[in-house]
Amino acid sequence: MIYLDYAATAPMRECAIDAMNDVMRHAWGNPSSIHEEGARAKAVLEDARERIAAHLGCRPPEILFTSGGTESDSTAVYSAAEAGRRAGRMHIVSAMIEHHAILRPLERLAQRGFDVTLLPPDRDGIVQAEAVREAIREDTCLVAVMTANNETGAIQPIREIGELCRARGIPFHTDAVQAAGHIPMNPGEIGCDTLAASAHKFGGPRGTGFLYVRRGLSFVPFLLGGGQERERRAGTENVAAIAGMAAAFDESLAGAEQENARLTVLRDRLAAGLTRIPKSTLNGHPQKRLTNNVNVSFEGVEGEPLLLLLDERGIRASSGAACSAGALEPSHVLTAMGIPSELAVGSLRLTLGPDTDEDAVDTVIEAVRDTVERLRTQSPEWQAKCEGRRAFLL
Ligand SMILES: Cc1ncc(COP(=O)(O)O)c(C=O)c1O
Repeated sequence: MIYLDYAATAPMRECAIDAMNDVMRHAWGNPSSIHEEGARAKAVLEDARERIAAHLGCRPPEILFTSGGTESDSTAVYSAAEAGRRAGRMHIVSAMIEHHAILRPLERLAQRGFDVTLLPPDRDGIVQAEAVREAIREDTCLVAVMTANNETGAIQPIREIGELCRARGIPFHTDAVQAAGHIPMNPGEIGCDTLAASAHKFGGPRGTGFLYVRRGLSFVPFLLGGGQERERRAGTENVAAIAGMAAAFDESLAGAEQENARLTVLRDRLAAGLTRIPKSTLNGHPQKRLTNNVNVSFEGVEGEPLLLLLDERGIRASSGAACSAGALEPSHVLTAMGIPSELAVGSLRLTLGPDTDEDAVDTVIEAVRDTVERLRTQSPEWQAKCEGRRAFLL
């Protein structure tokens, strides 16, 4: 089996499994309890918080533990919106390429009277800082632009965006779910007020994440109930998962520089091999992208059958296209980049990780080449193009 779907989720790192087992056996108490079992769990929790904060160069209380990227994003967005509403500022700037964890809450806010500006990316999948500058208004209460896109890996100019938000005093949220653990990042340097991360993208457990919240930011809690996380996120913390996340974060970042150099070579080899297939194109900026992401479209091929046939050959991949109500919906990210739907539905996302090596890359190039050829020979559309009855897009 060749696993090339690390952007969907990464297998658990051994160090994370060990840390979780240890907590489940020896520190299973409720960290809010004052007795010894509680104190032991609390010590694990605060140790995890300190280690994560140290990687981000922030203060431990600025880290809030959550149930993952989705909750971190919702918390940041709704908090900024509520603070904005109280101050009479109800305009939000974000981007068309954001994950649904940002877009869906924004849709809800729009229904509740917020004015939401969604900026288009350029053809390479990058949202220009200049576009953000132009979109900002007197009543803007939030700018939300992701650190790196989950489909194309395109890295966004978040420092420039952070700088201009800071200069205007506008809260800036970045969804760093795909970048955290892979690229070292410091919210103070980025100039963001909130930053979302999710453990399962860097070898920690699923269902756990964190949200950085800058000290001094006007913050409105999302989950209400008990007084956990300094009254900012109710609910008994999942201490074992949090310990697993901290262990995975430590290990992932310790090796990040070397791993990124190794993955860049493999990524470029894979992209070069796949784009040698006739009528194919790389989606997203060729260099300003995560070191583990290759996203290619093949004209005349739909993503879903391609994925199923690759799966049969033991290759696990993903496509931006999703089956909705029986029809194949092209990815909103690729469509926003101006990629025609016919190409967008044929996109293949391959995301590499620690287990990927050169042999795997070469095997995948061959398997994709064969499978694309096979699907094209079965397609009447493709035949029409080959016979000149229809024009090729690429
Ligand atoms: C960019 C981005 N944001 C948010 C999420 C949601 O994270 P989670 O699965 O931890 O809720 C994902 C998950 O794929 C993502 O890629």
